[in-house]
Amino acid sequence: MPSVILDMDPGIDDAAAIAVAVNHPDLDVKLITTVAGNVSVDKTTKNTLKLLSFFNKNIPVAMGAKAPLKKEFVDASAIHGSSGMPGYDFPEPQKEPIDLSAVEAIHQVIAQTDEKITLIATGSYTNIAEFIQQYPNDLDQVEQLILMGGSISGGNCSSVAEFNVFTDPDAAKIVFEAPIEKTMIGLDVTLKALITPATLNTIKDMGKSGDMLYKIIAAYEDIHAGGKPMHDVNTILYALEPALVVTKEMNIDVVTDGPAIGATVADIQNRWHQPGTHNAKVGVDIDAEKFNQWFIEQVARMPK
Ligand code: BDR
Ligand code: CA
Repeated sequence: MPSVILDMDPGIDDAAAIAVAVNHPDLDVKLITTVAGNVSVDKTTKNTLKLLSFFNKNIPVAMGAKAPLKKEFVDASAIHGSSGMPGYDFPEPQKEPIDLSAVEAIHQVIAQTDEKITLIATGSYTNIAEFIQQYPNDLDQVEQLILMGGSISGGNCSSVAEFNVFTDPDAAKIVFEAPIEKTMIGLDVTLKALITPATLNTIKDMGKSGDMLYKIIAAYEDIHAGGKPMHDVNTILYALEPALVVTKEMNIDVVTDGPAIGATVADIQNRWHQPGTHNAKVGVDIDAEKFNQWFIEQVARMPK
């Protein structure tokens, strides 16, 4: 069973990803770390704790970076609401975050086990970059890093940049250059796997979890024809069912300033990197119908 650490900024689609991950029998979620992104890190931490209370899960939560490494922090509350998790009235969480920073908590999980750990990052990569820099000896124990973020076919923050990479491009550069097996699940995948109105209608009547997810997803941006992207959920799908995502090995470079800041450039013609080398697997396609079916199956196993 994969042991995973989730690093997130809930965020509506992060919330849906947490819901799937913590209720899946084949994932052992050891820790959730939080980062500033969709909203402030205080709010992303509180949202994570609210979700864990909702699902009655005793998973430690460690608060991470309040701001990107160098760039000024700009949130996405225009899309995710001022709380980051609108549409559902969650009670106040019963627990507090643990008394360790995200980076220290990731290190401690790794130090306390011989198991390989899969890191899944669905916010900006500030915590992951700091972990890579502070604990390079831990990287051998990282089985793989699954990233929601980036795009090789146009962005959602600018014509070329995706939000998680755009928020902290300096962190993304460190992450893409790190000697870890990694997969970029970017907009090339997530904008193909839209949650359809039919799927939303189905989950709406699937007990308290379906009702909660329906309400928060219904509050999410509605700007894509055919449905709503649940970007971060795709990373959990990939951890569990990698064959459902088509990937290609590529060299990805991150642009850290200028008009293309936050772009993830794929060196498809090998102008900057040796042929036959790669630093990431990049998701390029997904079967949207199978994604919707899989999502409904996940909601079906959640508490009623
Ligand atoms: C990413 O940006 C955030 O707003 C979402 O939670 C997702 O991780 C999509 O670009
Ligand atoms: Ca996110």
